[in-house]
Amino acid sequence: MPQNPASQNEAKRLAGEKAIEFVEDGMVIGVGTGSTVAYFIDALARVKDRIAGAVSSSEQSTQRLRGHGIEVMELNHTGNLALYVDGADECDSYKRLIKGGGAALTREKVIAEASKTFICIIDPAKQVPVLGEFPLPVEVIPMARSLVAREILTMTGGQPVWRDGVVTDNGNWILDIHGLAITDPVGMERELSLIPGVVTVGLFARRPADVVIVGGEPPRVL
Ligand code: 5RP
Repeated sequence: MPQNPASQNEAKRLAGEKAIEFVEDGMVIGVGTGSTVAYFIDALARVKDRIAGAVSSSEQSTQRLRGHGIEVMELNHTGNLALYVDGADECDSYKRLIKGGGAALTREKVIAEASKTFICIIDPAKQVPVLGEFPLPVEVIPMARSLVAREILTMTGGQPVWRDGVVTDNGNWILDIHGLAITDPVGMERELSLIPGVVTVGLFARRPADVVIVGGEPPRVL
């Protein structure tokens, strides 16, 4: 559903603020990346005295969390988390996602895997019947870029495009696959992940979201 930027931002804010209702006293919160998550972090700042800290999925989110005086902790020290809150580029009716528009997909997928409950916060434009209209991000180690691109073309028929100039927080590069209609997200996630040189595929289907909050007046909790 096309939205104008102002109402889309308002929907993101409403989704981010609604997610605060899932935060419980003493929790360490997994925090994703992006403009919707930025609203969540700003809302989290208002309850920061109730939480133990946050595990961040990107340098960008770490800066914003620290700017609010929220302690950023290492996943290696916290162990598994009760709650992870993150945005998405696309979301289907099974809560399977495309993520990585902000190039933070690897740490996002690690934190999602480590979390009991993954809450995805989106504006209505992110809801789709079939994943793939948004180009699917794939993080690759730099020396494997052209090999992985050729394999992607053969395997999927989609068109891989190098996100030139973007270096991830892990020092890697991003290929965005255009022209997909992903009818088997779990299978595609598995197959693409097996290509040597692929670090992370931006499909979150094997481990989808548990709860989706669609921003609006009022927000919808799915
Ligand atoms: C970053 C992501 C983001 O969650 C996704 O790109 C959505 O971003 P936004 O909330 O700005 O629309 O996956 O890697």
